Amino acid sequence: MKLELRGITKRFGSLVANDNINLTVNPGEIHCLLGENGAGKSTLMNVLYGLYHAEEGEILLDDVVQDFAGPGDAMAAGIGMVHQHFMLIPVFTVAENVMLGHEETTFGGRLNMTATRKTVRELSDRFGFDLDPDALVEDLPVGVQQRVEIIKALSKNAQVLVFDEPTAVLTPQETDELMLIMKQLRDAGTAIVFITHKLREVREVADRITVIRLGKVVGEAEPTATNEELASLMVGRAVDLMIDKGPADPGAPALVVKDLSVIDHVGQMVVNRVSFEVRAGEILAIAGVQGNGQTELTEAIMGLQQHVTGEISLDGKPLNRLSVNKVLNSGVGFVPEDRNVDGLVGDFTVAENLMLDRSDGEPFVKFGNLQLGYLATFAEEKVEQFDIRAQGIRTLVGRLSGGNQQKVVLARELSRELRLFVAAQPTRGLDVGSIEFVHTQIVAARDAGVAVIVVSTELDEVAALADRVAVMYRGGIIGIVPGDTSRDVLGLMMAGEHHDSRGAVA
Ligand SMILES: Nc1ncnc2c1ncn2[C@@H]1O[C@H](COP(=O)(O)OP(=O)(O)OP(=O)(O)O)[C@@H](O)[C@H]1O
Ligand SMILES: [Mg+2]
Repeated sequence: MKLELRGITKRFGSLVANDNINLTVNPGEIHCLLGENGAGKSTLMNVLYGLYHAEEGEILLDDVVQDFAGPGDAMAAGIGMVHQHFMLIPVFTVAENVMLGHEETTFGGRLNMTATRKTVRELSDRFGFDLDPDALVEDLPVGVQQRVEIIKALSKNAQVLVFDEPTAVLTPQETDELMLIMKQLRDAGTAIVFITHKLREVREVADRITVIRLGKVVGEAEPTATNEELASLMVGRAVDLMIDKGPADPGAPALVVKDLSVIDHVGQMVVNRVSFEVRAGEILAIAGVQGNGQTELTEAIMGLQQHVTGEISLDGKPLNRLSVNKVLNSGVGFVPEDRNVDGLVGDFTVAENLMLDRSDGEPFVKFGNLQLGYLATFAEEKVEQFDIRAQGIRTLVGRLSGGNQQKVVLARELSRELRLFVAAQPTRGLDVGSIEFVHTQIVAARDAGVAVIVVSTELDEVAALADRVAVMYRGGIIGIVPGDTSRDVLGLMMAGEHHDSRGAVA
């Protein structure tokens, strides 16, 4: 089915999120939509899906003008969507979530669970997803939740499929699988819109590329365009995809972790006797395939895990068994893997989110009074510095684009008095220009003497930031190697192969 968007204009108050956008996607085509954070990509797709009503413009499917009152109409017309922010219901099972929005019911009006379970199993097998239809969504890691979203969109045999940044939470391997699936669907005639900030993916699957900036289409690019060309078209200026980073000048060990183990809520040992040090002024990257204990390791350091044994100390003082707040107050900054769960409150303003966890003392609170003037100045400064695209500091964070939400977390955490900075997937969902900025900030923190841990499944990010790399595999650290270790060696270690640990601190 051919999709055509004509002259779409969508405003939020005075903000023009989509400004007269034209876009055609042919059957059998993967059309990549590129643009910086807040450019208006998700908004445009939400208009297509009937979630927003555009002030102007038309949606055509095979040249017939459509009028969608809501997502139900869009689905019925053959449009499927994998949302950037999951639309899953956490307390429902995988099958129940997939079934939502399907109209088929059995007699008595009961939803047809047996058939849905079967559909989930079939699609899951076909795409190698290994999904349990009866698992509760809230128990699943984000990467697996993403698969549920994908299965949900695929289960309706959509003729037009939208993928809004599906790969932000997938591992490189999962991403490759998804790209294969997209190619299969394209070859079977589906029209696909694919939104991603990762240029490698664009070059791998795109048949056509449209670039949006500040709500307007600024041009088309060829899939053969170089990373630099795509980046500058998106951001409107040249971007350094690999920042300049001088050698580290590490000081004394700051974070010392000895024999740390973590048992999760189902009794599995997810971190297994891990020991390492991070010196002041160095960046230790923790690489590994998602789900090998990295998340739990950072959560244990932050006081977010229940069953932890072993020792954790910062500058010689024990961190174990402190509450999250106490850990943060001992000079630790934390960027959680899932900002929507641990990092932000969607119904609070940008300013309030910028002081979250810091409301228990100066400079934000004096003599029990919130310092509104200080907060406003601070927030304005951070919004400017981190280029957070919001209408104002009083905008609710839930209204910001995905990448801009991430920038709020980073701005807050990097503006504490830091001794240790722990960042899990810090640039998830960020555009290339913002990645450049955030990487520069992280290196600046290092150079100011902060000990830094960056957990990343992106080897590009590991290469850009790491002074040393610890590779995790099945809950253990399989080796610690220098930051410039080749991708091939890191890849082998991530698959569980031991390697000499030349980079380890003696
Ligand atoms: N419900 C809403 N209310 C008010 N403003 C909104 C709403 N949804 C989006 N916006 C604003 O519209 C603009 C475009 O946001 P959108 O989410 O479409 O960006 P995006 O291109 O998807 O960015 P990202 O790459 O970060 O996901 C942003 O300035 C955003 O703050
Ligand atoms: Mg978006």
